[in-house]
Amino acid sequence: MKLILIPFVLGISAFAANVNAVPMLSKRASSFVDSASCVVVFLASASRTETCKTDMAADVGAVVSITLDSLLLDFTGPDPLTAKVSSKGLKVQLAKIPGPITPSFPITGTREVMVLNDNTVDMATFSTPWSSATVDNMNVMTTTVEECALKVIPEQQAAFSKFITSVIMSSTTQEFILKGTVDANFTLPLPFGQKATTLPGVGFSSKTSLGGLNGLSSASFVRRTTDNSWDANKMFLFNFEIKITIPSQISIAVGDLSFNTVTGTGASRVDLGVSTSKDVRLAPGDNLLQVTLTTKGSDETTFFNALKSNGNMVVLEGFSESSKNKVIADAFAPVKIQLTLSF
Ligand SMILES: *[C@@H]1O[C@H](CO)[C@@H](O)[C@H](O)[C@H]1NC(C)=O
Repeated sequence: MKLILIPFVLGISAFAANVNAVPMLSKRASSFVDSASCVVVFLASASRTETCKTDMAADVGAVVSITLDSLLLDFTGPDPLTAKVSSKGLKVQLAKIPGPITPSFPITGTREVMVLNDNTVDMATFSTPWSSATVDNMNVMTTTVEECALKVIPEQQAAFSKFITSVIMSSTTQEFILKGTVDANFTLPLPFGQKATTLPGVGFSSKTSLGGLNGLSSASFVRRTTDNSWDANKMFLFNFEIKITIPSQISIAVGDLSFNTVTGTGASRVDLGVSTSKDVRLAPGDNLLQVTLTTKGSDETTFFNALKSNGNMVVLEGFSESSKNKVIADAFAPVKIQLTLSF
């Protein structure tokens, strides 16, 4: 009697009777019913039809919400469209299925194929390695995303860059959708002992959000770091240190970052040159960045006079050459950082 297995499996035994008691599931009841019967067959026979593969890969509503803690994105690799991604805490609120099993989903490990979707556009994908997972009595699954490659879909590079801009500029949180499929390991308490089983390709889709970087508006001038110096082209260099406080849980490594540097506005606007910080890695909390402003001329007096006549205020403006990586250059192009220098 294969159906006896069900209560020991996902707690889905009660599902058919109680589907409307689970708001998340009821929306997707038909795909969950199809998927649940596929699960039963799979656990009994370890095989799936193509139809079952499709049914299970649909969003079956088992995932209510996802949060990503300590998300690390690293864009310093050789391929501009491939970043490294990892997260120390992937928390997934799973649906509570009425029934005898707590937690409803006794998961011990997962791996995911994730798609980042914003404004209905699939922008990037990543496939995580296996990682162990625990599920608490509130049906919150906690796991980690071990380092893996996040691949920006080439046709959606502009959309992905715009999404990163939104994360940089947001003073609150930036919402988006994480969807995909999960392979989940379960330890099933069967009448004749425990059985480790992997349930492959179960679909999910959930809103999630990332804390924004507030436009890097926390940036402040710390100090001038060297006396007068000039580069090989005899351009005057102004070297300084700035502090940027990152309010969010995101770490982002972007490599060398450059900004057009201007002082004054309107008729008194003066283009001073380009400020560059090497190997920029922003992490939660305070970050000190070493910056070199390569001015447009050799004459330091002209430079200092232009600054003084504008109260020593400068704006670092992102532009199309902010990074060698187009994903990052496009993402930082709208960013403007205001500073008051002293010397
Ligand atoms: C999950 O099960 C598979 C075998 O199906 C195994 O290769 C993998 O290491 C397991 N992972 C975890 C984290 O439990």
